[in-house]
Amino acid sequence: MTPLRLAIPADIPAIEQLIALSARGLCAPDYTTAQIEAALGSAWGCDSELIRDGTYFVAEVAGELVACGGWSWRRTLFGGDALPGRQSELLDPSRDAARIRAFFVHPDWSRRGLARAILARCESEARAHGFRSVELLATLTGQRFYQACGYMEEPAIEYPLTGGEVIRFVPMRRTLD
Ligand SMILES: CC(C)(COP(=O)(O)OP(=O)(O)OC[C@H]1O[C@@H](n2cnc3c(N)ncnc32)[C@H](O)[C@@H]1OP(=O)(O)O)[C@@H](O)C(=O)NCCC(=O)NCCS
Repeated sequence: MTPLRLAIPADIPAIEQLIALSARGLCAPDYTTAQIEAALGSAWGCDSELIRDGTYFVAEVAGELVACGGWSWRRTLFGGDALPGRQSELLDPSRDAARIRAFFVHPDWSRRGLARAILARCESEARAHGFRSVELLATLTGQRFYQACGYMEEPAIEYPLTGGEVIRFVPMRRTLD
């Protein structure tokens, strides 16, 4: 199994590159090119706060990042640094669900269990921090993955992007055992 490590600030350019490759390569069946390009750099992008918190993981093969994803004890539900409206306040584990954040896998490395491995690590850490549930805002591509991992979906939302594009996301949640 490809080992995971914590992302560090020096990974940010490679993470941004991976996110773009992943979205363009794997989201194409679910979204138009215009939607994907509008989402990149805002709704989809690196959130450096997760890296500073030590809650964002990468998988690396021969010096190249092939997958990334993380979790958070902060309120922000999705979005990279460029998305306005960050909500950095701390969640209350006795009341709130921890966030699952920004999973992206390189198209050449999809369906090899990398996202599942990162998710298991995130859920385990959230549980160790006292959280009893986790939630996220899934892409339509991610929805199938999270369903396979036991997440329940709520009604989809239409999220407005820059340039007049609108994109469909699906809120999802899971109780931690
Ligand atoms: C969603 C994503 C992270 C999944 O990554 P992955 O490493 O390929 O997922 P895994 O290999 O761990 O998949 C685990 C299980 O999820 C399900 N699954 C994953 N991708 C799927 C897909 N495209 N269609 C149907 N089921 C899927 C399968 O049950 C899979 O198990 P299997 O391969 O044994 O059948 C990846 O497709 C991706 O990066 N997509 C583009 C970016 C994106 O939309 N990210 C989600 C943000 S919320």
